Amino acid sequence: MKKILLSVALMIASISLHATDANYQVVPLPQSITAEKGAAFVLDANTIINVASNDEAMRRNGEFLKQYIQEKTGIVLNGMNKKGNTITLKLNAKVENEEGYVITVKGKNITVEGKTPRGVFYGIQTLRKSLPLEKVENVTFPATRIADYPRFAYRGTMLDCARHYFKMSFIKEFIDMLALHNINTFHWHLTEDQGWRAQIDRYPKLTEVGSKRAQTVIGRMTGLFDETPYGGYYTKDEMREVVKYAADRYITVIPEIDMPGHMLGALAAYPELGCTGGPYKVAEQWGVFPDILCAGNPKTYEFVNNVLDEIIDIFPSKYIHIGGDEAPRIRWQHCPRCQAEIKRLGLKGSNGFSAEAQLQAHFMNQAAKHLAEKGRYIIGWDEILEGDVDKGTTVMSWRGVNGGIEAAKRGLDAIMTPVNYYYLDYYQRKDNTMTLIGGFLPVETTYGYNPVPDDAAPELKKHIKGVQANLWTEYIIGRDLAFFQLLPRVAAMAETGWTENAKKDFASFKERETRLNELYKHFGWKTCQDLYKEKK
Ligand code: ACM
Ligand code: ZN
Repeated sequence: MKKILLSVALMIASISLHATDANYQVVPLPQSITAEKGAAFVLDANTIINVASNDEAMRRNGEFLKQYIQEKTGIVLNGMNKKGNTITLKLNAKVENEEGYVITVKGKNITVEGKTPRGVFYGIQTLRKSLPLEKVENVTFPATRIADYPRFAYRGTMLDCARHYFKMSFIKEFIDMLALHNINTFHWHLTEDQGWRAQIDRYPKLTEVGSKRAQTVIGRMTGLFDETPYGGYYTKDEMREVVKYAADRYITVIPEIDMPGHMLGALAAYPELGCTGGPYKVAEQWGVFPDILCAGNPKTYEFVNNVLDEIIDIFPSKYIHIGGDEAPRIRWQHCPRCQAEIKRLGLKGSNGFSAEAQLQAHFMNQAAKHLAEKGRYIIGWDEILEGDVDKGTTVMSWRGVNGGIEAAKRGLDAIMTPVNYYYLDYYQRKDNTMTLIGGFLPVETTYGYNPVPDDAAPELKKHIKGVQANLWTEYIIGRDLAFFQLLPRVAAMAETGWTENAKKDFASFKERETRLNELYKHFGWKTCQDLYKEKK
């Protein structure tokens, strides 16, 4: 009897080690999945990947697909095409969207076609996420046609590496996570009151002095400090390595040099750039600080231009983020140089904005002009609307959705990153024992956001370019907590960025995300599991 039971168990085990069907219900959900008549495709070690293009990016796509097939199924393609089964990757100008793709599965062929290698890459991501999440010898792909494209051109995630520094190995893993969710922009927040993290040759003290704080507050505004120096920065070579790693995965890195506020890192290094002349120190606790760059000192403008010149030499992105948020103007009100500059420029309080607010608009516009001469454009947080900003500015709406609506009314492009939906430093649970910044943002809420409702004004439809989730890191230290805060909420944001609103459905997302969660576990990402638990 024991023997029979053992052999039945072995039989079951060997069956479950064989054919398993692919499941095309992935995150983000493709726009259309149509079952077709015809034989299924069987993927096994003999399957060939045929890259019908000499394009280097397409060849890299082929390598990615090979790795993805192996990562969970364990199937290693051996380069032999015994049964003639082939996955063909090819460019096709008829695919409409720059990032769109079409997958056709029938008999001995899977074809992934895109207008660009980028589109083919997203098709590959869909195939990857369709694979079974267990070790198998072969996979059956039912005959189908998937035609897909993103709803928004901009799909981003921000990581604050200034409040806390993250290792290069994590940055790469973070980028891998973005690619898995069809996200195409990594917004890299590199400078803060609590630390300057980007090497700039012309101003070596930015990293020698500005990247180090003497100690860090314990917990949330306790007045107690850990008496432990903290620091870290990215060298130019490392930043270039990140740009390349991301570009290989069709992700643009947009660096942020936050100005004129959140600048204590720089002011500690170069106190002459502040209104009072200092001394200043790199901040040891969180918050908004009154000391910002002096906007009446020509040296400040020179500093900004020189820093931006080195930044654009590293980062090829069309957009450079120059912050603009949370800059108190109290020092400017009392600074003879700032007041003289207001006079010289003839700035007056107007349109409900103070003269100092207009001075900030002037400051941001100067940086924008400098970048525009080099073919780059600025993104700023929604405070930059508190004055007359140049056309060509893109606004990141964070204090809610009004910044985006106002930007669109003024004819400016906007990216929606509202705090009440997309601030991933917020709690995911009501009963929480962790020390985080506050707020309450369960994944359902993140998922439920629709940046452009059907009845939105035409200017909103034209100017809202996409969505972005932000991970600020005052309380987020290290890989495990970062992944806990990121996932599954990044997946929820990614589906809003990719899938048409009418096709979104939270119950379906939950089911699809439950499968993807197995891949997160495979990578060792300790993500929040609340979504997968049955609610009582
Ligand atoms: C921000 O959260 N200060 C943009
Ligand atoms: Zn000043």
